[in-house]
Parts: sequence; structure tokens; C-alpha cells
Amino acid sequence: MNIILLGFMGSGKTSIGKMLSKKKDFNFIDTDLEIEKRNQMSINNIFKDLGELFFRNEEKKLLNDIKEKNNIVLSTGGGFACNSQNIKKLNNFGLTIYLKYSNNKLFERLKKQRKERPLIKDLNDSDLKIFIKKYLHKRKEYYTQADNIIECDKLDENQILRKINSLIVPK
Ligand code: S3P
Repeated sequence: MNIILLGFMGSGKTSIGKMLSKKKDFNFIDTDLEIEKRNQMSINNIFKDLGELFFRNEEKKLLNDIKEKNNIVLSTGGGFACNSQNIKKLNNFGLTIYLKYSNNKLFERLKKQRKERPLIKDLNDSDLKIFIKKYLHKRKEYYTQADNIIECDKLDENQILRKINSLIVPK
């Protein structure tokens, strides 16, 4: 089986995915890291020099390339699941889990980590708040098609991991 983590930027998909893959002894793929590796460029530079459309295309290609793999924990970039084709393919690939946070919590988390994220790196606090509201509203439609949704606002990483485990271990 495969486990796929979805959610907005700053939801901890990479760090939780890594921990989960160790625990389950699964291979770990982080879509952003994989795309950086394939292009030998940072996400910031891919956006700057090649454009967002190129990046979205890389996401689609990657999904296609891994579709036969098994025993993978896949941590997706925040926009990865956000079109009808990709979310469908992710749901076919394995168990999808949306790590859900409120706008306020996302703001708290993201205001400390803007630099590496091309879509928000130049935004001030008030524009970041507006960005989160607008994008989360648009993306909710896709994130909520995940097989499972975990409300993460009040949970720490270990509690989130335990919740994920309870979803994948048969009772
Ligand atoms: C993006 C999220 C980022 C990265 C890129 C675009 C998005 O991933 O894929 O900057 O569109 O939300 P994280 O969710 O890991 O920050």
C-alpha cells in the first residue's frame, strides 16, 4: 500500500512523511525534493526561471512516473493535489490523508517559513493572511476529496502520527 499526505503549505507534510516512512519501513518521496533533484534547481529557481506552469507539469510527470510503485509514503507539495486529475490519481495510488489546519494556524506556521516558498516569499503579514484565505478556499475542494481528514490545529507531530497509524492499522 501507499500513503499520501496532502495539505496546504506549512502543514508539516515533509517532516511527518519522513517520520511515518521510518516507522512503517516504507520508501519516502517528497514531491518538491524529487522535482528539485530531477532539475538540479531549487523550487524558488524553478518558479523564477522556468515558471509555475513548468513546475505543475513536473508534478504531473512525477505522479505518472511513480504510479506502479508500492510501499511509499508520498508527501506532496501544497498545490500537487489541486486539480481534478491529480487528486483522482492520488486516490488511486493509495490512502490519501489531508492534514487540515485553520487559516489562523497556517498563518502562524507560515509566517516563520516564507523564504523557500516562491508563492509567498515576498508577501507581508497582511498579504499572507489574504493569500491563505483565498488559496485555501480554492483548494479545499480538492483536499477534501482525500480518503481521510485529520484536524491538526491542536495536535503535535506525534499525535498526528498516531492518528495516521490508527487509519492504516486494521483494528
Ligand atoms: C506550493 C507548495 C510548495 C511547493 C511550491 C508550491 C503550493 O510545497 O510545491 O512552492 O502551490 O502550495 P509545500 O506545501 O511543501 O510548501
